Amino acid sequence: MQTSLTHKLKSISSFDEYKKSYNRSVSDPESFWSEIADTFGWHRKWDKVLEHDWTIPKTKWFTNAKLNITENCLDRHLEHNADQTAIIWEPNDPDKPSKQYSYRELHSMVCQFANVLKNKGIKKGDRVCIYMPMVIELTVAMLACARIGAVHSVVFAGFSSDALATRINDASCKMLITADGAYRGTKNIPLKNIVDEALHRCSCIDSTIILKNTAQDINWVSGRDSWWHLESIGVSDYCEAEIMDAEDPLFILYTSGSTGKPKGMVHTIAGYMVYTAYSFLNVFQYKQSNIYWCTADIGWITGHSYIVYGPLAVGATSVIFEGIPSYPDYDRFWQVCEKHKVSHFYTAPTAIRALKKHPSSLVEKYDLSSLQVLGTVGEPINVEAWQWYNDIVGNNNCPIVDTWWQTETGGIMISSLAGITPQKSTFATLPLPGIQPTLITPEGIEILETEAEGILAIKFPWPGMARTIYGDHDRYNKVYFSAYPGYYFPGDGALRDQQGNYRITGRVDDVIIVSGHNLGTAPIENAINQHPLVVESALVSYPHEIKGNALYAYVITYNKDEKEEELHTEIKEIVSRLVGPIAKPDKIQVVTGLPKTRSGKIMRRILRKIATDDIGTIGDISTLLNPDIVDEIIKNKK
Ligand code: WTA
Repeated sequence: MQTSLTHKLKSISSFDEYKKSYNRSVSDPESFWSEIADTFGWHRKWDKVLEHDWTIPKTKWFTNAKLNITENCLDRHLEHNADQTAIIWEPNDPDKPSKQYSYRELHSMVCQFANVLKNKGIKKGDRVCIYMPMVIELTVAMLACARIGAVHSVVFAGFSSDALATRINDASCKMLITADGAYRGTKNIPLKNIVDEALHRCSCIDSTIILKNTAQDINWVSGRDSWWHLESIGVSDYCEAEIMDAEDPLFILYTSGSTGKPKGMVHTIAGYMVYTAYSFLNVFQYKQSNIYWCTADIGWITGHSYIVYGPLAVGATSVIFEGIPSYPDYDRFWQVCEKHKVSHFYTAPTAIRALKKHPSSLVEKYDLSSLQVLGTVGEPINVEAWQWYNDIVGNNNCPIVDTWWQTETGGIMISSLAGITPQKSTFATLPLPGIQPTLITPEGIEILETEAEGILAIKFPWPGMARTIYGDHDRYNKVYFSAYPGYYFPGDGALRDQQGNYRITGRVDDVIIVSGHNLGTAPIENAINQHPLVVESALVSYPHEIKGNALYAYVITYNKDEKEEELHTEIKEIVSRLVGPIAKPDKIQVVTGLPKTRSGKIMRRILRKIATDDIGTIGDISTLLNPDIVDEIIKNKK
């Protein structure tokens, strides 16, 4: 079957082969990756496979090679597989028809929209912001940018106008592509209104293109706004691909950091393409005629790498779902799996936990016999959720790949290869070939024993890694390469068992993952502090049955407010507006002080213990600047 795929990349087919590939990727990484890269289409091959120096830090893959990623994702499938379905689109409303787009159709839609972008003055290197629902045009817009060498910056359409404006300005985007509105369950989100509010603060945007999606009334700014469908009339669907350098940027994607400003991670073309395709094929063991569905939003890295680029690069059939798992009922995922005979299903632990709360008859009423492989991503999966996924969804018959990776890594780093390498529940297991993880102590010393717990670190470059933070290489250096010189530092802790399997235990920095979304504490605290009555705040997490983590905010107010409930509502409203609804604190406690070290640093560790009701292990607080405050906070906790 494998040979009938239109690309020549082969997936690993036994544990033995995995071990051989892995060892080769470590002993001779350049020949290992050049053989894989050879299976793609290039206008010019590389002079050097890898150049790197992590003291600067600098990493370059496939130096001086020339290519266009859309030729690899689209054109090269046209000769033999033009009529194969590239994308199955499933709408929010189950009563509306789903749609299928062949590689030929997708190719012509991308080329036509690439010409629209050109007509609007977009050129190679320009940044284009995309703020769209999960419709086919989102993928078309991304690939059209890549076709002409523009850099896309997709902003998740659940973000607020403030978050959108910050991201547009950070990358000085010239154009914004959006829609009038977005359907999400029973809601109709007024995207264009949010955009209009954001653009008051963005002087860099020259023009916007608006997709008519919900056909609701919108405000119109003439001279700036134009309709997607009108701009496309009479535009050719032939567009020569811009020839790009391997290390030219493909996209910017923002992720939260532990300080206020989001980090615009820059991914470059060739390394990202090679790595997402290789990891997609191997982890999921995708074969011709399989139907693969990743439920993530394309606004996150999972959607970029494993809905759009990875699957298309190997000529797969991938599902794009506009809706949410609970609409019209909690069985929607399974209804869609049955309807499209999904063979590969990739989702997040938070969705699994939410669905597990409902009767298993909601799963069992569907014929899920097409399912072959299940996957999870985004946060650690607990045993109960893993078991339910395995038994009820997978009918004890589907390998589960627990894939650990990050926006910054571009692709899956640690995961079993479905049915090929051993799986172990709640463990991401072994690194992919080419990935060299290790554990280090807080002092940065590598832990040599196999069975150990420590800070996760990566020792050697891989092609899919982000090359910089847009406009701030210093910060890239500080966050990822300076904490532990010589290593890439992902910010996660991990356990390793005797067989070398990794289990990710969670963040070791100030990033909190709520329902699979990374949230930095700083931007949320900054938002809370905008409330006129708030002097200072501190945000921590506590475990939550469904969301994984929930947010607990401690706030100091100017005067003890009589109407605490009102204050809570207002704080939530501010956070929702400035950061996004997902970042609203679940619990708020008004306090008169926060536990601080003598140097003035808030002791979040203590606040976390209080929020978790784990006060027995708070430990010695006598070195605090204000030890009495701890008792007071505990006493007043509701
Ligand atoms: C966490 C998502 C445990 C981790 C692709 C990481 C995980 C952060 C897993 C990146 C997993 C992701 N097991 N934790 N399988 N996958 N994480 O940038 O803390 O949205 O650093 O990328 O999610 O989140 P991001």
